[in-house]
Amino acid sequence: MAGRFRKFIDKFSFNKEKILVTGGLGYIGSHTVVELIQSGFEVIIVDNLSNSNIDVIKGIEKITDIKPKFENIDCSDYVAMDKFLSKNEGIQAIIHFAALKAVGDSVKRPLPYYRNNIGSMIALLELMQTHKIPNLVFSSSCTVYGQADKMPVNENTPIKLAQSPYGNTKQICEEIITDALTANSTLKGILLRYFNPIGAHPSAYIGENPNGVPENLVPYIVQTAAGIREKLSVFGNDYNTPDGTCIRDYINVVDLAQAHIAALKRLIDGKVESIEVFNLGTGEGTSVLELINKFEQATGVKVPYEMAPRRAGDIEAIWADPQRANKILKWKTEVSLEDTLLSAWNWQRYTMDKENSAKRHFNFLSMS
Ligand code: NAD
Ligand code: WQD
Repeated sequence: MAGRFRKFIDKFSFNKEKILVTGGLGYIGSHTVVELIQSGFEVIIVDNLSNSNIDVIKGIEKITDIKPKFENIDCSDYVAMDKFLSKNEGIQAIIHFAALKAVGDSVKRPLPYYRNNIGSMIALLELMQTHKIPNLVFSSSCTVYGQADKMPVNENTPIKLAQSPYGNTKQICEEIITDALTANSTLKGILLRYFNPIGAHPSAYIGENPNGVPENLVPYIVQTAAGIREKLSVFGNDYNTPDGTCIRDYINVVDLAQAHIAALKRLIDGKVESIEVFNLGTGEGTSVLELINKFEQATGVKVPYEMAPRRAGDIEAIWADPQRANKILKWKTEVSLEDTLLSAWNWQRYTMDKENSAKRHFNFLSMS
């Protein structure tokens, strides 16, 4: 009943701010869509499903009781986006997640990364002017810092030469946005530099869905714990860190999503003069071995692993100084690393249960 009442109220609230979320069916996008809906925004998603699945909408609906509007469009397609925006006037802000993000793949196939990530950015900035959309939140990354000389890194830490074409697209996009906003005082923007987002929604209805063999640590740990992968390779134990393995700042994906709401409200409230940048991290560094131990403690499940050579391009250690976001956005991370790892595990189990019941259903149909 409560759900139906809420749906009714939501349907007939005309004064909601309309937010376009590009890449809103992806990992971080979908969690942010949930937080946006729960904060009373009207959400429109554009995603070309190049790294996501239409079923994610069902997960969002299960959590929020609302099915957000969705269009399957490539946002680097200027003409298609122009047409779409003409039909959807009154958008207050764009949260731009849509990008290709696989670091290793970007080294092998750099051009799709440049075309997709930079092409989308330019098209959106031009269209924001044409369609009078005043605000932008951009998904940037700690990758822009490379191996910083001093820890933790704050927003004034120098940007190093990019380690990969993917990282370069983030640096270039930050520069393009800065130039575009400096030249046009009606546009305002916030660049959010994420550290290492992990975990899933506590409901387990949405989470990270890597394609093929995961490149990132937590999806690999979770799949190894589930028996899908035989063993985790720990890439390097001879780094200059207390246990020899690399250190990162792992941030809960729902905490991260909530930072987008804070950034959006700051923009809509007119508090941003032109462009601002924030690190989004916990402020704590965790090594690979510490993370494996915490996963095992949180879930009670063993993760078989072996030491392996260093992975090319890895930096030794990085963690955030999130004080600017803490003070100005009045945001900080809330969920513990243990609960975050447990949420990743619960999501994996939920996904496997869903797949198994689909298989059982298929077998039943083919037998009958
Ligand atoms: P994701 O791949 O899960 O989500 C990206 C979504 O964008 C996908 O649904 C994909 O289908 C869509 N997409 C890609 N190109 C598109 C296009 N041209 N038009 C329309 N849709 C398109 O990735 P994610 O982990 O959710 O990352 C979201 C953003 O955050 C990306 O910009 C990424 O670079 C950035 N980021 C991610 C991490 C991370 O570790 N996950 C860290 C720092 C920054
Ligand atoms: C973490 C640690 C690995 C897998 C990446 C992107 C970065 C940003 C966040 C988007 C490292 C080790 C990993 C494995 C391992 N994304 N590892 N065995 O590399 O810090 O950051 O995601 O902007 O740009 O590069 O994350 O999860 O891949 O690795 O030992 O099977 O885990 O060597 O030390 P990374 P990651």
